[in-house]
Amino acid sequence: MDKFSITGPCRVMRGEVSISGSKNAALPILAATLLFDKPVIIENLPSRTRDIQVMLNLLKSLGSNIQFLNNKKTVKITKTKKQKQFGSYSILKTMRAGILILGPLVSKYGKSICSFPGGCVLNGNSGRPINLHLEALKKLGMKYEIKKGYIHAKSNGKLKGNKIEFPAISVGASQQLIMSSVLAKGKTLLHNLACEPEILDLTNFLISAGAKIKWIGKRTCQIIGVSSLKETKYSVMGDRIETGTFCVAATLAKGDLLIKNFDPKLIKTELNLLKKVGAKIKLFKNSINIKGPERIKSIKNITTKEYPGFPTDLAPQFMVLLCKASGTSSITENIFQGRFLHAMELQRLGAKITIKNRTAKIEGSTNFIAAEVMSSDLRASAALVLAGIVSKGNTVVTRVYHCDRGYENFENKLKKVGVKIKRSK
Ligand code: EPU
Repeated sequence: MDKFSITGPCRVMRGEVSISGSKNAALPILAATLLFDKPVIIENLPSRTRDIQVMLNLLKSLGSNIQFLNNKKTVKITKTKKQKQFGSYSILKTMRAGILILGPLVSKYGKSICSFPGGCVLNGNSGRPINLHLEALKKLGMKYEIKKGYIHAKSNGKLKGNKIEFPAISVGASQQLIMSSVLAKGKTLLHNLACEPEILDLTNFLISAGAKIKWIGKRTCQIIGVSSLKETKYSVMGDRIETGTFCVAATLAKGDLLIKNFDPKLIKTELNLLKKVGAKIKLFKNSINIKGPERIKSIKNITTKEYPGFPTDLAPQFMVLLCKASGTSSITENIFQGRFLHAMELQRLGAKITIKNRTAKIEGSTNFIAAEVMSSDLRASAALVLAGIVSKGNTVVTRVYHCDRGYENFENKLKKVGVKIKRSK
């Protein structure tokens, strides 16, 4: 298991960071390639992240041909004659987004046997349910049974369009249903969808291939089924959470970064909060210049919410920032109830954080002192690296395979802007 060793505090964070394609946009787009007979070219793929590699392996195991073109960022995916409909436990247990193959397979081939998925442990004892996916797919005509950890699903002929109102907002269930409705018979109306930019990236991708999808409200989509999708070439959007992570890094370490290849309009909420804590921010069409302040101000009650609210995937990184603020701050987690495991590790570095129910109270002015800390999930691992950057001494972050799931070239990008970080076994 690899670890990072970071020597801090970093006092010279300067330079440019090029943001990779979005992992969370690319995953459903890759799953949606199962709906095609024709080849699909996907550009700006963050193919060096572990989750994307797992998804590509999953597609290969289903019979898709995967061919990298020119560079590691562009991939051509072609259906072969050996198409299978079996999502194995050995692959799906490693990644939650693996479940996104279920709807496309049933929609395209009328059947699938798919393992329950794994993924980061973010929800305490509640696990990471998929009831919203399954209930909604049933309304399109999918029938299923659960046997030995597998969902045995089938449909009688084509899935059929329907009116579906999600009882709660879910990113994954929204993606699942959008993909499954594209080839369904007739009209589907999906209400109370998540509207994260990654979901719009998925609908834009499908529209580029001839899908008839129309957003008729902020959380409502109308989809008219088509018989097949055309060949297409699509470039994945930049990674919103990677961008936010580097914005926090610059703010935290009094840095001066030019963060490139990302549309700043997509992270207005996060940038407003960073301005509130004192960051100086200049916005350009596809980049952000951000400078950290001498003194970081505290914020009362950041609350995670569905987009366009503050993202749960940036709460751990903001927690580190608020540890350095002058004054007390708080973060309330509304999406995943168990998402505070990093707080315990930050305490090992000197943070003063108390957690009550879903709210973390963070006392500021922490002088982080280096120690060995352990990553518990993807974003927690990024937060620990950020804390290492401003800790005095040599911080060792273990289990960085979590980080590798979603950050492409993280340590090289940090090294390039002045952070002393090394990977070792
Ligand atoms: N939920 C249910 N039933 C369901 C689905 C979800 O109860 O059938 C609950 C979840 O347990 C959670 C809430 O609804 O409490 C929201 O979950 P959602 O389905 O929106 O999340 P997801 O699709 O599993 C995606 C991202 C996560 C990100 C969340 C929230 C991908 C691959 N994953 O997960 O990203 O935190 O949306 O924005 O897109 C990450 O990248 O580190 C990560 C965890």
